[in-house]
Amino acid sequence: MPEAVLSIDGVVAGYGGGDVLKGVTFDVPAGGVTCIVGPNGSGKSTLLKAVSGLVRPRLGSITFQGENLVGRSPRQILERGIVQVPQNHSLFREMTVRQNVELGAYLVRDKRVIAERYERVAAAFPIVSERAGDKAGALSGGQQRLVEFARCLMLDPTLVVLDEPSMGLDPKTLRQMFQTVRRMNEAGRTILLVEQNARQALRLADQGVVMENGRVRLQGSGHEVLHHPEIGALYLGGSIEETVTG
Ligand SMILES: Nc1ncnc2c1ncn2[C@@H]1O[C@H](COP(=O)(O)OP(=O)(O)O)[C@@H](O)[C@H]1O
Ligand SMILES: [Mg+2]
Repeated sequence: MPEAVLSIDGVVAGYGGGDVLKGVTFDVPAGGVTCIVGPNGSGKSTLLKAVSGLVRPRLGSITFQGENLVGRSPRQILERGIVQVPQNHSLFREMTVRQNVELGAYLVRDKRVIAERYERVAAAFPIVSERAGDKAGALSGGQQRLVEFARCLMLDPTLVVLDEPSMGLDPKTLRQMFQTVRRMNEAGRTILLVEQNARQALRLADQGVVMENGRVRLQGSGHEVLHHPEIGALYLGGSIEETVTG
């Protein structure tokens, strides 16, 4: 196993009305794809928000490249190289694709650096170069998702955090989206993603983490999690416990 770039250790967090995360611990190996799966409401998005600084854990630590992120602001976390693509579409519909992508570099002051990164991202994402001048709102949901990926790369992140990137995509765009995740990973980014399309995502993942009710229920290689005998029930809405005892 490569060294962990991110270590989540005993994280307890919520929104004021009780704990949603009840002690979450796992490592994200550097350079790999880690995929979190689990039923709705199990705390997957809350965990990603804790990593990005949008939710502050009550207990535990989140260590990125040796530094505890707990208590850091979302901006400070962004500056350290963790970029999250949110669950809902987040492009400015009335702005062009190019403007949206360039906005991704808002922490970068140097115009030359922004221009270089834009060229690199546009070369890697045909949708960006082909539709640069079109309003983002004119693109399909899947195309917008790819532009969101392109935008997040403008900060040259070490860790890319994706919350259900396949949501609302048709099967063809879905494949394209997963290929793009793979390419971002091959380009050296560590990926932490949450996916409802568990089978496809786990096939792509080096590591799989199953969350249920604010806890890690299972962790292993993507292959191990995918072929775990009790896992199917989770995607049918049951719990591991129900499967084991019932
Ligand atoms: N902003 C919020 N305020 C209060 N409760 C929330 C908020 N967001 C999520 N929750 C609650 O936290 C729990 C876990 O939600 P979430 O992390 O979104 O789960 P998942 O992403 O696995 O579906 C749910 O019970 C949900 O209702
Ligand atoms: Mg969620």
